[in-house]
Amino acid sequence: MADFERLWSYSVGFYGVWIVHIGRRAGLLARLADSPATVDNLAAATCLYRPAVQAWCSAAIAYKFVSKKSGKLHLAKNMKAMLLDTKNPDYLGGQFSYLALRSLEYGAFDDLFRHGLTRDMTSTFEAIQQATDWDHNAFLAAIKNNKIHLLLSKGCRLLDVGCGTGSFLAKLHDKYPKSVFVGIDPSNEAVRAARQMAEHKPVKILKQKGEVMKFSDEFDAIYLGESLYAAQDRQRIVYNCHRALKKDGVLAIVEGLLPESNLQGNENRLIMGMQLDFALQGHNFMTAKEIRRLLRASGFKAIQFTDLGGALYLVTARK
Ligand SMILES: C[S@@+](CC[C@H](N)C(=O)[O-])C[C@H]1O[C@@H](n2cnc3c(N)ncnc32)[C@H](O)[C@@H]1O
Repeated sequence: MADFERLWSYSVGFYGVWIVHIGRRAGLLARLADSPATVDNLAAATCLYRPAVQAWCSAAIAYKFVSKKSGKLHLAKNMKAMLLDTKNPDYLGGQFSYLALRSLEYGAFDDLFRHGLTRDMTSTFEAIQQATDWDHNAFLAAIKNNKIHLLLSKGCRLLDVGCGTGSFLAKLHDKYPKSVFVGIDPSNEAVRAARQMAEHKPVKILKQKGEVMKFSDEFDAIYLGESLYAAQDRQRIVYNCHRALKKDGVLAIVEGLLPESNLQGNENRLIMGMQLDFALQGHNFMTAKEIRRLLRASGFKAIQFTDLGGALYLVTARK
């Protein structure tokens, strides 16, 4: 019976993901976060098709995302925090949206399993942005009292390798206006979006792979946010980062890391499942051992791992 219930909960989980993603994307959750509303209020406020809104409401009630009192739907405070508030440490909404958006690509698994064909990640920047929002805020919270925060507060030069659409650089610029930033990324689509974000800000975006960057003794800090796993030559990138840093400069890597034990532990289940998603993109997660080896081989010192939760780690090291 226990096994039956566990398997049953997996299929229910699938719909839970969709209800949250649709609620976020259609603005239904945001409207309910403002004040309780009837189905009619919701459909009118969002200009959406009433029968679809009605179906969403009744599903969202059944899954306990919202509750119904005196004919109105209510969104509890903790649901608002977990589903909408990107800065809350319990925020899961972006993760749900990532899973829903990535599942649109699952038709491509036939080609992967039969012919070894992978899909590059550039078609899914919207999904990536949803997931990495959490990384960025977890990183900013984790550095509160350390050297990177001090450097950024005083004003320093930071390089973001694999900056994607630039959403992390935008957050950094808001929080640390005295610092200047350079972002590099090999994807045309990412660079286009990042350059738009960077307009009129001390942020320079270059279209480039980390393997070929030529910076030398230029940066006080370098950030690699879920980009090292995606590189063809991880060692070359880490080596180039070492050269790009000034003496005593800091490297910060944020990556999901595969566990080396307790593979069935609850906290590791998401990353264990996500290996399929990464395989579809032609990538794989690293382990702490691999990161340590890459860093040591390039001459980095003072290597430290901070667990950010959900198998996500901040790894820092000094030149
Ligand atoms: C999962 S996204 C993360 C984006 C961003 N760092 C963030 O935190 O939102 C990975 C990024 O790494 C970039 N990337 C892939 N291969 C790379 C390489 N060899 N050098 C630098 N960036 C690379 C991809 O184009 C993509 O934008």
